[in-house]
This record gives sequence, structure tokens and C-alpha cells, in this order.
Amino acid sequence: MADAPKSARLTIGNDTYDLPIHSPTVGPDVLDIRKLYGQAGVFTYDPGFTSTASCDSTITFIDGNEGILLHRGYPIGQLAAKSHFLEVCYLLLYGELPSAPELEKFEHNITMHTMLHEQMQNFFRGFRRDAHPMAVMVGVVGAMSAFYHDSTDISDERQREIASHRLIAKMPTIAAWAYKYSIGQPFVYPRNDEDYASNFLRMCFAVPAEDYIVNPILSRAMDRIFTLHADHEQNASTSTVRLASSSGANPFACIAAGIACLWGPAHGGANQACLEMLKEIGTVDRIPEFIARAKDKDDPFRLMGFGHRVYKNFDPRATVMKQSADEVLELLGVENNPVLQVAKELEKAALEDPYFADKKLFPNVDFYSGIILEAMGFPTSMFTPIFAVSRTVGWISQWKEMIADPQNKIGRPRQLYLGETLRDYTDIENR
Ligand code: ACO
Repeated sequence: MADAPKSARLTIGNDTYDLPIHSPTVGPDVLDIRKLYGQAGVFTYDPGFTSTASCDSTITFIDGNEGILLHRGYPIGQLAAKSHFLEVCYLLLYGELPSAPELEKFEHNITMHTMLHEQMQNFFRGFRRDAHPMAVMVGVVGAMSAFYHDSTDISDERQREIASHRLIAKMPTIAAWAYKYSIGQPFVYPRNDEDYASNFLRMCFAVPAEDYIVNPILSRAMDRIFTLHADHEQNASTSTVRLASSSGANPFACIAAGIACLWGPAHGGANQACLEMLKEIGTVDRIPEFIARAKDKDDPFRLMGFGHRVYKNFDPRATVMKQSADEVLELLGVENNPVLQVAKELEKAALEDPYFADKKLFPNVDFYSGIILEAMGFPTSMFTPIFAVSRTVGWISQWKEMIADPQNKIGRPRQLYLGETLRDYTDIENR
């Protein structure tokens, strides 16, 4: 953490307290309140953590007003255009872009860990066929700690490394198998001669009865979706992973917690919710009705895929994703897809509406990712699992950073208690 040459003065009644201010390499200053309770006996109050930095980190930087997203300093637009997912994984995990031999070794390590313990198939088979793939992923990833004992000791740096590689490598296999199970098809094993994205597509769409040739355009689009979702600073699921791991829990349990958090429609579940909404709208003429509902304070309906806690101008991932959507749909010859028509018109109508402009609500990455995934042939239930595959490297990088941080201590927020004060127990016959 940078030195704290500045401070802020807080006055409570007749007492004053000097709070150190830390300056980041880029972004707003941070007021250090760690000693506040000990000195002044007060807590700070920040439900939803809208103004609270929970850690220091060197991985990802976001400027929500300017629409900037940097991984280790590199803008997401450049990474999406020039790099690829496994290189971005290396960057997030180790802090620098790899040399050619480093990348080759890393790709080899990931490829060599893509298979699952054969016994894990029993876990999949224990679920109902209609289970949501996210439910399967939470369960199976949590169960990894029961299969890979030799990488659960978080105090051993080598074990942490192996757990990281295992999680990044096996997550596509787990997601693909959750899908295969749900449609009653045999599990397709990973293949070492395919790249990460192609391998995932094969495991999802190949069947033993015939050859499956991965379309390079779809593979590139898949890789870009993985890249664009790889990390996003201290979002809800990442904070969940950090909080879970602050107790010393094993990495598989922590990532399972992250997957559970990601599932919610306000977070990773938004891509599924967005496509379902577009289908519910159905035709362009119904757009005004749904815009009106989104603006109605008495209606809980929100435009899914719009708005973001941090981005208040535009989501830089959405810009790349929109381009990708146009390319993929054109190449697949589905540019006249009715869902896409509704999406395009809805985007236009919302951006022209003062309600959305005033509240700084713009399409986020999930507005477009669902359209691409549907065009590729994925059912909506697979959208969030694909997000989980992508985000695993972000969770793992943040987890590794946290474990290696000497300041790491168990996360334990406090509260503003508004309940009953001390009272005596009443016997049941007197209530
Ligand atoms: N549609 C209509 N109104 C909205 C929307 C929306 N999608 N999003 C926010 N608003 C309105 C709210 O009603 C609120 O209005 P008010 O000030 O009059 O009460 C105002 O905008 C601010 O909204 P908050 O919920 O306070 O903003 P917050 O930062 O907490 O929420 C969130 C961000 C959860 C993403 C929200 O915009 C939302 O629910 N969007 C739809 C779900 C979605 O797309 N999530 C994906 C996020 S990106 C990701 O996880 C990769």
C-alpha cells in the first residue's frame, strides 16, 4: 500500500481524530478507518459497500465514470483485440504478460489438468436432469475439495498454484458436463489438441456418433467472451470468494461460494435474465410497454442488461461485446434474428429515454453476451455457467493475492443494530 502522507480530520463532539489517507497508483484516495472504532468507538455505515475499499489489490482497475477497465494496467479493449483468454489468465495470475516459453508452459499446465476424476461423474448423475447447471456447478466445484486433497493446504504456495491451475482447467469440463447431463447426452472428454475455447465448445456440442469440427469463428467469439469476463475487481462474487477464504477455507469451497453468488440475476445471472426478457418482449412494438414498466416505481421490473454499480457512462466490455455480437451473427447468417432485432431497438429506445440517461443506465456486458451465446446454440441456462468459467481466473487471482498478503485477516463486518434492547425471557404460558 502507498505511504499515507495525507490525512482527514474527523470531529465527533469535542474530540477530533486524524484518519490517514492512502493514495492509489490511479483512482480516488482511500480514507483509512481501521483504527476508528478502537479510538472513537464508532463504526462506519455503508450497506452494499458503495464507498468502502475492502482490500488493496494490484490486479484490476476500473474507472466507472470514464468507462475504463484495466487488467494489470492493460486496457480490456487491447486485450480483447490482441490477446487471448489463457494469456489474460497468466497476466491476471502472475502480473505480467508471459514470454513465449512461459505461455507455452502455462498452456501445457492448464491442458494437462482438464480431465475430472472419473468418480466425479457420480456427482453429476446424482442431480435431477432438470437441475440448473449453476446448481450442479456449485455442488461439483465444492466437491473438488474431496477429490483433490493434495491442493487444499493454503499455506503451501505450490499447492495454491496447483489448485489455481486445476480450477481454471477443470471449470469448462464441469460446465460442459452439467450441460450434457441436462440434455441426456454422454459426457465428452476434453482433448489436449484443442485450445481452451474450442475444447469447451467440443465438450458442449460434440456427440460420440459423429465428428465435430470446431468453427474457428465461434471459437474466437467464445474466447473473447471468456476474456471479457475474466476479472472485474471487487464485485459481489469476488468479494464473496475473498470473504470465504479469509477464514482459511480451501480454494474449491471458496470458488463454489463465488459461483453461488454469481448466480443471482443482479450479477452473473443477468445474461440469462436479459435474454429471457428479450424473448418475453418478443416484438419491437412491445418495447414501449416494457420501457414504461422499467420506469414505473411501483413495478419491480428492471431492464436486464442495463445499469451497473460501477460503470456510470458506458461498460467498455459491452463495446467489444457488441462488435463481437454483430460479427458472429453476420457470420452465422442470423442478423435478422427477432431477439436481436428487439435487443437493438430496445437499446436505442432506452438510450434515447431521459430516465435512463439521467440515471446513467447503459447496456452492460451481459446485454450482448446472451445474444451471442444463443446464436452459438447455448440454452439460456448455460449463460451464467459460462460466466463462471470465465470469472474463475479472476476469483483465483484475487484469492492468491489475498492469501499472500501479510495483512490478510478474517473478514468480519459490523452492523448498525436496530433490534430490541436487553429484555427478560418470558415463559411460554405468559406470552
Ligand atoms: N432498469 C430500470 N431502472 C434501473 C435499472 C434497470 N436495469 N438499474 C437501475 N435502475 C434505477 C433504480 O430503480 C434506481 O432508481 P431510483 O434512484 O429512482 O431509486 C437507480 O436506477 C439506481 O439503481 P440502484 O439499484 O441503486 O443501482 P445499483 O448500483 O445498486 O445497481 C445493478 C446496479 C444491480 C446492476 C442494477 O442496475 C440492475 O439491477 N440492473 C439490471 C441487472 C443487470 O443487468 N445486472 C448485471 C450487472 S453487470 C454484471 O454483473 C456483469
